[in-house]
Amino acid sequence: MFFGVDYYPEHWVWPYAGTAEEPESRWKRDVELMLEAGVNVVRMGEFAWGLYEPEEGKFNFDWMKRAMDLFQGAGIKVVLGTPTAAPPVWLARKHPEILPVDERGLVKHEGTRRAYCLNSDVYWDYTRRIVRALTGALGTHPSLIAWQIDNGLGGHLTEASFNEESRRDWIQWLKVKYETIERLNNLMGTRFWAQGVTRFEDVPMPMAAPTVHNPALVVDWMRFCSDTIVAYARMQADLLHELTPGIPVTQNLRALTRRFDHFDMAEVIDFVSVDSNATIKTKCAENACEIDMMRSLKKAGIRTPDGDSGFWVIEQKANNVDWQEVNSLVRPGVVRMFTHQLVSRGATGVLYFLWRRARIGSEKFYGGVLTHDGHAKNRVYQEIKEVGHELARLAPLLKDTRVVAEACILISHDNDWNLSSAKQPTRAFRQRDHVQLFYNAFHDRNIPVDFARPTEDLLRYKVVVAPSLQLLAGGEADLLKLYVQNGGTLVATFNTGLVDEHHIAPDTGYPQNLTDLFGLEVVEFDPLPPGEENHITLKGQFSASQMHPAKIWCDLIEARGCQVVGTFAKDFYAGRPAVTLNSFGEGRAIYIGTMSHQSFYHDLVVWLRQLCGVNPLLKVPDQVEVSLRQKDGTKVYFLINHQNSPVRIPFLKPVHDALTGRTLTGNQDLPPHGVLVISEGTPV
Ligand code: GAL
Repeated sequence: MFFGVDYYPEHWVWPYAGTAEEPESRWKRDVELMLEAGVNVVRMGEFAWGLYEPEEGKFNFDWMKRAMDLFQGAGIKVVLGTPTAAPPVWLARKHPEILPVDERGLVKHEGTRRAYCLNSDVYWDYTRRIVRALTGALGTHPSLIAWQIDNGLGGHLTEASFNEESRRDWIQWLKVKYETIERLNNLMGTRFWAQGVTRFEDVPMPMAAPTVHNPALVVDWMRFCSDTIVAYARMQADLLHELTPGIPVTQNLRALTRRFDHFDMAEVIDFVSVDSNATIKTKCAENACEIDMMRSLKKAGIRTPDGDSGFWVIEQKANNVDWQEVNSLVRPGVVRMFTHQLVSRGATGVLYFLWRRARIGSEKFYGGVLTHDGHAKNRVYQEIKEVGHELARLAPLLKDTRVVAEACILISHDNDWNLSSAKQPTRAFRQRDHVQLFYNAFHDRNIPVDFARPTEDLLRYKVVVAPSLQLLAGGEADLLKLYVQNGGTLVATFNTGLVDEHHIAPDTGYPQNLTDLFGLEVVEFDPLPPGEENHITLKGQFSASQMHPAKIWCDLIEARGCQVVGTFAKDFYAGRPAVTLNSFGEGRAIYIGTMSHQSFYHDLVVWLRQLCGVNPLLKVPDQVEVSLRQKDGTKVYFLINHQNSPVRIPFLKPVHDALTGRTLTGNQDLPPHGVLVISEGTPV
């Protein structure tokens, strides 16, 4: 188990720290304080290019080597970033063509970070040069255990740039995809507004225009931008693997907020790392959902520095952020709670962003483990020290344990990009909220969830939820059928299969290619304005704990062999199906033709538990979040109280408290933000 911080030794030299005689003398104190807090890894160097190479070709890695030597002496391991997130100013001055161009054709200038176009050959060449120089200088340092590629690829809305080199690569990408211009025109439907072209060279990039671009072209553009980002990361990963084969490669990802295919990216790297903003969120299920999404990106072929499975959180906020309207302090106990939440859901490394609040630069009001004064008398340092010692205690127990889920929610970047296109049946629908409703329903019953893309092998799951896959490729539809055919339980919803992978709507009924699977056809759909509601009348096996509204969208469904489980209560489609169940092969396909409030999804999960035997991990009071990490013969449960008030948990049999070593029995009060870790042989 790795526990650490993001450290910028370059910030802590004379005149900001140290002395004129010994400019780097503060580093020693930092190392001492880190050791006291249980730190065993630091990430460094991801923005250091301009210091490594202050003038073209004049390299200086000595200062970083001195920092690494210090860490090595203290037994602290190092993850080094390749410094390409922040190109040096001289590079942009010499090669202004590397600068990104926005959708209005305006250049984004140098002087910050991320100011480069990912299609720039010059930037690729300079990237290779700095990566070679870096690996040559520091790649065999004994403290080095992993590389981080770049930092926050795609961040600050830099997923796309509209340079001439982007156009060149876009045209090439289109040629590979479509082969002939006739095929492109047909599949993109360029007859609409007669926007057809006779040469690939004339296909536009979707730059600012009087009105919306062809959505098929826009989704292709997003795929192209995604492929570009992934190719750039792959180039770095391949180079690093070639030059330092023993050192695994990672990248810091955010929970799917950036426009590239995170599953594709996860294939390029050896293990996934995450930037978590957990400390500013209040809803534990939202954090949990993001963590589970990130854990799910890479399910096989994981190579972490210590050979454990899981993922790392390479930036966990240590305190307040600096980019909200008001950046309040994170309350006592909350960083500890979120750290345990991350570990409970599979993290095998947690590093805090950042070690010490910077005295210089644009992030100087960002909360660190240490405050500006660096005295280490502050609240957060004390709290993190406690967490460090707790994790050191848990590490042997957690080694090689994994999170295992029997329920899965499907996500697809292609679909998300498609849903972001301007002309939709309703702008009131938000896919992320829809996913969260299903997620909460499992989470609140302590049923573990994985995420997957529709093309993954789903047979390992007892139940798969596919919310609103409006863009569903023919191959994806086939795989869903195969899953149900072989005994799976699939839950799909309104807004599914309205277009195929080419953004062409079906003439065979909705959901495209799946009417037989669900035993129905959606003949019309009726988006409801925000605030307006219909109601769902449930009958039989799916029992309602209360009246459930139908919101946002109502499908008008013609049953073709399915069983009708719920109907709409009013309007001209009163009495027509809203929820259906169909047997297909060995399995069943449930269709939900509307969106409801949270308790509908809780009731749905009660029904699904009966249908396919997905069970809660433990029975505990509602306020308590439970997760489980397990391996043969070992089960480690995390019980977390996300509330501001204590929760009483009755233990019917004695349990082993892995944090204190005590045996607990009878009623136990879990304090506000409290965490209890109990190990197996100890059912509640
Ligand atoms: C991260 C980034 C850090 C820092 C942080 C601030 O995404 O990697 O360098 O800027 O955001 O929130």
